[in-house]
Amino acid sequence: MALPKSSMIFFLVMAMFGVCYGAVYKVGDSEGWRYKGFDYQAWRLNKHFSVGDSLLFVYKGKDSVVQVDRKHYEYCNTTDPIKETYSGNDTIVLDKPGHYFFITGYKRHCDKGQRLDIRVELPTSPSLAPSPSHKSDAPSIQSSAAISALLMAMVVIILSSITA
Ligand SMILES: *[C@@H]1O[C@H](CO)[C@@H](O)[C@H](O)[C@H]1NC(C)=O
Ligand SMILES: *[C@@H]1O[C@H](CO)[C@@H](O)[C@H](O)[C@H]1NC(C)=O
Repeated sequence: MALPKSSMIFFLVMAMFGVCYGAVYKVGDSEGWRYKGFDYQAWRLNKHFSVGDSLLFVYKGKDSVVQVDRKHYEYCNTTDPIKETYSGNDTIVLDKPGHYFFITGYKRHCDKGQRLDIRVELPTSPSLAPSPSHKSDAPSIQSSAAISALLMAMVVIILSSITA
């Protein structure tokens, strides 16, 4: 066999995670990350963020995304950031549960509302999760759970054939 068992298992597990997790939420939808006239608190209201999902911040010009703690968030204070990105197409992977705080690097714009706080939870079973709203572009939790169950079954079958 060309691939050692361990790397095959690794790829299978990665494939599984790719389906279970990894929803990408574009912050502000078509508005992106901009300095006024958009309500980011409303945008995040009916969304359910899980570990493994990512946020995509899209913006033009010399803006930035600064991840800070709660206190710095409240004061739009960019000193001591947890993370800072500038590309204009910034993906932030939500890699652990908790409360995340993001602000723009421009204090003035942050004061006007260009900031976002979200809670990230461990993935829950679909029956316990709130049903996704139909008009939102949030990924369908139900179908990805079904696919991951299917994949899980495949992994078990493949693993048992490898070790046989
Ligand atoms: C911003 O935060 C730093 C600590 O990271 C603090 O020393 C500074 O006083 C804060 N500035 C304002 C304006 O709150
Ligand atoms: C922005 O990043 C996303 C995800 O990494 C990628 O799919 C997309 O093509 C990028 N867009 C541009 C304009 O670079």
